[in-house]
Amino acid sequence: MDALRLLQQDHEQARALMQRIKDEVGQTDSSARLRLFRELKDALLLHAHLEEQHVYPIFQQSELTRDSARQALEDHRTMRALVDELDAMPLAGFQWVAKLNELYETATRHMTMEEVDVLNQASEVLTGEELEELGTMLDVTKKELQVGTDMKAVESNEPSPSPPLDSGGSPKSFTDETSTSGIPDPKTHPRQYKEAMKTYDTPDGNTK
Ligand SMILES: [Fe+2]
Ligand SMILES: [Fe+2]
Repeated sequence: MDALRLLQQDHEQARALMQRIKDEVGQTDSSARLRLFRELKDALLLHAHLEEQHVYPIFQQSELTRDSARQALEDHRTMRALVDELDAMPLAGFQWVAKLNELYETATRHMTMEEVDVLNQASEVLTGEELEELGTMLDVTKKELQVGTDMKAVESNEPSPSPPLDSGGSPKSFTDETSTSGIPDPKTHPRQYKEAMKTYDTPDGNTK
């Protein structure tokens, strides 16, 4: 699947979940609201993790998308903090609803910004084929994380190397010479692994 379609689908899922949570506010029984909030939390954290591991490292390397990428990563930090605060607060009470509204506003603005600024510029940074390859990698990583093998990495936002660039400045093929996580196998591709580690940008945009 094309990476942009996959990310857009995630946005639509998050928007629908946030609306359903808002619709539950005011109900005496808050169990559905709690269940939906947990679903939203997992969806937002997983989505942000995927973008930070596989999408923004590429966009940070292009002048065209660098500023939008920086803004997006800042938004992710804000959203994580809001999700953590909501998670720690009692559901009953107006503070939780006020905080939810804050998350709703921030996440909605962020997703619109991504759709208008970042994802629209993706075709300038990546070819159609590369977008397909990126989509495949996002899909594989998403499924791996959804089965709970590595949710700790999502919660703590552990970074992993971004794909190395070829000599023309374009990201190298995501499926060629790399594992499904985008990291070349150090045993079979020692040179590529070394390159990937060297060119790895942290989500903050600071080269390690
Ligand atoms: Fe995002
Ligand atoms: Fe997004």
